[in-house]
Amino acid sequence: MAETKLIRSLRAVRQFSDREVPDDVLRDILDTGRWTGSSKNTQPWDLIVVKNRETLAALAKCGQFAGHLATAPLAIALVMRGDDAWSGMDEGRLMQNLMLAAWAHGVGSCIGSIFPKGNEQRARELLGIPKDRYLRTMLSIGYPAGPHALRLPPNTPIPRGRRPLDEIVSWERFGNRD
Ligand SMILES: Cc1cc2nc3c(=O)[nH]c(=O)nc-3n(C[C@H](O)[C@H](O)[C@H](O)COP(=O)(O)O)c2cc1C
Repeated sequence: MAETKLIRSLRAVRQFSDREVPDDVLRDILDTGRWTGSSKNTQPWDLIVVKNRETLAALAKCGQFAGHLATAPLAIALVMRGDDAWSGMDEGRLMQNLMLAAWAHGVGSCIGSIFPKGNEQRARELLGIPKDRYLRTMLSIGYPAGPHALRLPPNTPIPRGRRPLDEIVSWERFGNRD
């Protein structure tokens, strides 16, 4: 199916152009996220759209690799109701759908992990998140600065590409490659 091309081409984008993300595009991204399936359809999430530059700059300091939040035109906070493994699965599905919805509009995105706990507390305060909710991930959103924004810069410690299919897929039993 042609859509797999779009899914495969999704990359983390950490450098953004000044071009504003139109409201109808942002709304479509959020609304597509809303339709994400969750465990028992509990939909255990709330989203906060953040455009305020000071808030984004402060949030960028709430994770070791969250610097891109400071330069993104906007970001979305994924506020979850739980912190167990199922909640993590729900959050991951929501995150991926938001990212793919954005990419379908040509809008780039990158996760910014909020950690450790002290930083999560600071981020909660910045966004007024109640005590019984969790904030582990933010999503930077914006049009890519250019084709280079889809590639990792040279000398990055993060590995590129993906492990080969034959290495990750077994047939019938773990480790059976035939
Ligand atoms: C759970 C999770 C947390 C991540 N946290 C960060 C982060 O804090 N900062 C960041 O720049 N990228 C983060 N990323 C993005 C990954 O670095 C990215 O998915 C990976 O390097 C593959 O990038 P690519 O699709 O562009 O090849 C995170 C991704 C996941 C799935």
